Amino acid sequence: MCGIVGYVGDKQAARFLIEGLTKLEYRGYDSAGIAVYNGESDAIRVEKSVGRLAELEKKIDGNVPVGCMGIGHTRWATHGGPSDLNSHPHTDCTGDFAVVHNGIIENYLALKEELIEAGHVFKSETDTEVLPHLLETYYEGDFEAAVRKVLRRIEGSYSIVFMSKADPDTLICTKQDNPLVIGLGEGENFIASDIPAIIARTRRTYIINDGEVAVVKKDSVWITNRRGEPITKKVFEVNWNAEAAEKGGYEHFMLKEIHEQPKAVRDTLSGRIAKDDSAVILDELKWTAEYVNSFSKVFIIACGTAYHAGLVGKYYIENLARVPVEVDIASEFRYRKPIIDDNTLTIVVSQSGETIDTLAALKEAKRLGSKTMAVTNVVGSSIAREADQVVYTWAGPEIAVASTKAYTTQLIVMFLLGAYMAGLRGTVEDSRMKELLGKLRNIPAQISETLEDVDPIKAFAQQYGYNDDVFFLGRALDYHVALEGSLKLKEISYIHAEAYAAGELKHGTLALITRGIPVVALATQRGVYEKTLSNIKEVKARDAVVIGVAAKGDTELHKYTDHVIFVPETDELLIPLLTVLPLQLLAYYTALTRGCDVDKPRNLAKSVTVE
Ligand code: F6R
Repeated sequence: MCGIVGYVGDKQAARFLIEGLTKLEYRGYDSAGIAVYNGESDAIRVEKSVGRLAELEKKIDGNVPVGCMGIGHTRWATHGGPSDLNSHPHTDCTGDFAVVHNGIIENYLALKEELIEAGHVFKSETDTEVLPHLLETYYEGDFEAAVRKVLRRIEGSYSIVFMSKADPDTLICTKQDNPLVIGLGEGENFIASDIPAIIARTRRTYIINDGEVAVVKKDSVWITNRRGEPITKKVFEVNWNAEAAEKGGYEHFMLKEIHEQPKAVRDTLSGRIAKDDSAVILDELKWTAEYVNSFSKVFIIACGTAYHAGLVGKYYIENLARVPVEVDIASEFRYRKPIIDDNTLTIVVSQSGETIDTLAALKEAKRLGSKTMAVTNVVGSSIAREADQVVYTWAGPEIAVASTKAYTTQLIVMFLLGAYMAGLRGTVEDSRMKELLGKLRNIPAQISETLEDVDPIKAFAQQYGYNDDVFFLGRALDYHVALEGSLKLKEISYIHAEAYAAGELKHGTLALITRGIPVVALATQRGVYEKTLSNIKEVKARDAVVIGVAAKGDTELHKYTDHVIFVPETDELLIPLLTVLPLQLLAYYTALTRGCDVDKPRNLAKSVTVE
């Protein structure tokens, strides 16, 4: 996730660019930059800096680029770490074209090789830089025609603004799977990733759809579809306040981030499944069968929600790749003399990449000779830098303290890793691999479908939200999801919540189940389904109120529960990606019912950098 802005009009562009980027910093903040066309010198001046926007402002202090057309960017790194050179805007060899981009150009490596062969010189490690070089290649005096040629060459997700020195009154922008709006002013027009950037200047906007191309001048906006046919758009009048706009109209960042999961998961999968679904592609690893077969054991180490993702990761790697996995809490691992050698692979999982316990555990594993790998959401974070290898989740910045989209994208990476290792070890039949990866492709759409069904969950939150205790039950993968559901509920609603492996309840905890206690019971794992039903009957017999979670098509669970929440059908290995969603929503709406501060729960911080 990054933020992009553009301005063309009769005022100084830099003023709006900086102001707009300030409002988009929630989309990314590891570097920022602007490019402004100066008519007098007939040149595009680019200023960019690693760090927050304040660093860029410091850098250009007193020497603001002059000109009435410009573009800007605040970055959340994906391809290429945070650095001055990797910051946007990116330019071509001549400096005549500048581009800002939010998203991922999936085929950039092939394009980059082709461009280098043709003599282009690249300055950054980003996927984005292919765009200005392609524009340079195709430009023959017609800016729009050249942009269309560029768009025909690229695959992936993007919102882009193109600027050309030879066309000093025109910006061209487009989008695919990333947001883009145009703000309509008087003698000036604005482009931005999101409404907060422009709301102080205008409330009249065009919301751009996938595949649309907009040619934006100071007095006109001309929009066409992929085929170049004109589109008549309705002006969308924004009636939210600026703060609501930053949350995309959602009341809280947590809810916004819950709803961002289809995109976060799609981005994290992007380019990582072979076109024919036969294999996982993890270009960042380049492992061989020999390398994978050298692992005698895998350790997964993390804290909190990331630890819960690690538990699912163990299930995936053991089930698919048949390599033994141990999962540990980071703050425990380093003090218990773990048995590790150079045949161990240690995987640390951390959204922020800065959690001190996880970082210390990673250093300890390294010291003991382990191979190391990080799964993190923050490019260039301490953990990303410390690990030998990194696989990124591409969830974009997570602002709410309670982790949601980080968890589902971590599950995606763990699944991809299990399948990747299985591919190298030959432990999964080709037909099964195809079936799994085909179903994995459907997950983003199934997440959207699941998130549409919130009304029953709101009702449960209102009905049971004032109970003091809630229990979560499940077996196998359902148990791991239950752990995450219970953590979400306790951290934001302050209800005492506990998750149990359903079969373990009778070994003590059943004593706590009394009349009216809500029990959330997940029952999606076929191999242990009957056993789970027996455990549900045990709590029902003690007069608990049972809310079941099942896959559509389940015709049994409702007989033994008070309510059932259904999620779409998929493979039982993938279903945690869906069953966790109602539990996130239940935690959210329960916290609302109880009047809790959802985004900033008491005593907690987003990034835990103390032991
Ligand atoms: C819970 C939550 C925390 C984090 C934990 C690890 O919602 O957010 O439990 O998962 O503090 O943080 P990272 O993943 O940044 O290492």
